[in-house]
Amino acid sequence: MKIIMVAAVSQDGYITKGTDPDVSKWTSTEDKEFFAKIKSKHRFFVMGSKTYDSGAVIAKPGTLKIILTKNPKKYASQQIDGQLEFENLSAQELNKIYGSKYKTCLLLGGGITYTEFLEANLVDEIYLTVEPLEFKSGTPLLANTNTLSDFTDGIEPEITVLNNSNTVLKHYILKK
Ligand SMILES: NC(=O)c1ccc[n+]([C@@H]2O[C@H](COP(=O)([O-])OP(=O)(O)OC[C@H]3O[C@@H](n4cnc5c(N)ncnc54)[C@H](OP(=O)(O)O)[C@@H]3O)[C@@H](O)[C@H]2O)c1
Repeated sequence: MKIIMVAAVSQDGYITKGTDPDVSKWTSTEDKEFFAKIKSKHRFFVMGSKTYDSGAVIAKPGTLKIILTKNPKKYASQQIDGQLEFENLSAQELNKIYGSKYKTCLLLGGGITYTEFLEANLVDEIYLTVEPLEFKSGTPLLANTNTLSDFTDGIEPEITVLNNSNTVLKHYILKK
């Protein structure tokens, strides 16, 4: 299974603007279009519970979203089998269980979850939209003092300029 990380980030490295979890308030129209398009091409999605709690996640027939949490019971009433499932699994366990069932997995964040999969060397590709904004505070793209270059060192991303404001989409293919 190919694991593809997708994130939008401010120029100074945050995936939320301060404490506001609503990412759609600051991402560009072009990033929203890119995000909708890439999601439409995949059927299997993974995210952490804090991203799920941020509110923008909906179940969709024909797709499976796994929400990682140490406490799946807390979410039992929200589970929709086969579409929205809450699991307590490590990145390695998830890859083992679902790797033979799905060809691709979109890794939708947030920072704690991206970091876990990158540290486990399970991420194959990264799509990173960099918005021309400075937040000075917020949820960092990566946790545990990691920086993206710890995982992309020496890799030249393919860069697409998405609009006149200089929103940039970087596509990394990681060495494994
Ligand atoms: N700009 C973007 O592209 C983007 C993308 C995604 C999210 N976000 C934002 O990022 C924020 C959340 O990011 P975050 O880094 O704080 O958290 P997160 O990665 O969304 O969620 C982390 C939580 O998920 C659970 N979890 C993760 N891996 C697990 C595992 N292997 N096993 C069991 N549980 C696991 C744990 O919660 P439990 O306490 O439930 O165990 C953990 O505290 C939100 O505000 C969201 O809006 C932004």
